[in-house]
Amino acid sequence: MSLKERDKKHLWHPLKQHHTHPDSLAIVKAHGCTLVDEDGNAYIDAIASWYTSMFGHCNDYITSRVSYQMQQLDQIMFSDFTHEPAVKLSEELIKILPQGQNRIFFNDNGSTAVEGAIKMALQYYFNKSEKRSTFIAFEDGFHGDTFGAMSVSGLSIYNGPFEDFLMDIKRIPVPDGTNTEEILTTLKTIISSEAIAGFVYEPLVQGAAGMKTHDAVGLNALLKFFKSNDILTIADEVMTGFGKTGKSFASDYIETKPDIICLSKALTAGLVPMAITSCTEDIYKAFLGNTIAKGFMHCHTYSANPIACTASLASIELLQTEDIQNSIKRISASHKAFEKKIENHPSVKTTRSIGVILAIDLNTTANRYGDLRDKLLSHFMKNGVFLRPLGNTIYIQPPYVITEEELQKVYSTIKSSLEIV
Ligand SMILES: Cc1ncc(COP(=O)(O)O)c(C=O)c1O
Repeated sequence: MSLKERDKKHLWHPLKQHHTHPDSLAIVKAHGCTLVDEDGNAYIDAIASWYTSMFGHCNDYITSRVSYQMQQLDQIMFSDFTHEPAVKLSEELIKILPQGQNRIFFNDNGSTAVEGAIKMALQYYFNKSEKRSTFIAFEDGFHGDTFGAMSVSGLSIYNGPFEDFLMDIKRIPVPDGTNTEEILTTLKTIISSEAIAGFVYEPLVQGAAGMKTHDAVGLNALLKFFKSNDILTIADEVMTGFGKTGKSFASDYIETKPDIICLSKALTAGLVPMAITSCTEDIYKAFLGNTIAKGFMHCHTYSANPIACTASLASIELLQTEDIQNSIKRISASHKAFEKKIENHPSVKTTRSIGVILAIDLNTTANRYGDLRDKLLSHFMKNGVFLRPLGNTIYIQPPYVITEEELQKVYSTIKSSLEIV
């Protein structure tokens, strides 16, 4: 029996309606940008498996470093113990993280990185004997699927059954270059009546919203407002971190730096799950005291797993090589050239790109998981390209190691899909 058939017996997949979409494609091998299914068909992974495998699948350098680490120290609890990969990773991260970050706290995935950040902000004020319980977040943001992360997420498609159980959140629109003053006026009203603990935001690009970009100058004005009103700023760089936008972090484009940063996905280059919630020394110091209860009583069993830390160290090394930096520039330039080629096509409404992220909004309305998405998905797969449209948005976020030939194949497949919209 095929894997596809055996899968149906016991497995339950995420983000899937099994009744209407019972099949899952069985992948048996992945290397570089290529995924191979159980029938031997190959696909270019043009979204780096949800933006994780940025150095290509089963990257030889990363796997050899991880394989060595596996024979030295596999796992040790991180409460009261420490180890070289975690120490070294903290040193390397602090060198490249936006200015002000000085403490590294480990979590397991993007959602728990955000969950940890929310709890950190709440306890920061609690420890200073201030009760603050409300957060501010952008409309249409996505921050994950645990309760705190769901609360700050504005994409209601995921939150429906849970709305009644979520935290108190005030939502503001993203700055678009014309509405900053308006947003600041709204913020003044909000903070006059609510005790705000923090502002959670995806800097510059809202991934799950369809790679929606926003105005850096406007975002900087909002961050300055929060800083001057003693409200913690929490940048969710789970999707944007580690080179995606052309700089190491999207926050590098913005003058005002966040107090807390959430990292995951490309942090470990798609090899193993791990996440980090980093923060300033000021936040860390608010947790020091003579009682255990003043400390951060938040922990995951696999915190700072040595194998995951090693994958991260190897990928940070790769990110800083001239080769990878040149590839990011090449992909970014190719995206711009492709945008020019398709921008006047009748099926194209708008295009946008930053770093290796390219998004194309189609001139049609479509449900996030509707028929158009299925039609496009099957067109892409038949042509050997794995892309996963979000409603009427097609986006690319390829591994940095994608060749120009592979990239051109992705573009030509997208171009041919415009004829079936
Ligand atoms: C910006 C952002 N934050 C958080 C998450 C949640 O990450 P995870 O799926 O690892 O829980 C995602 C996932 O796509 C994301 O894009």
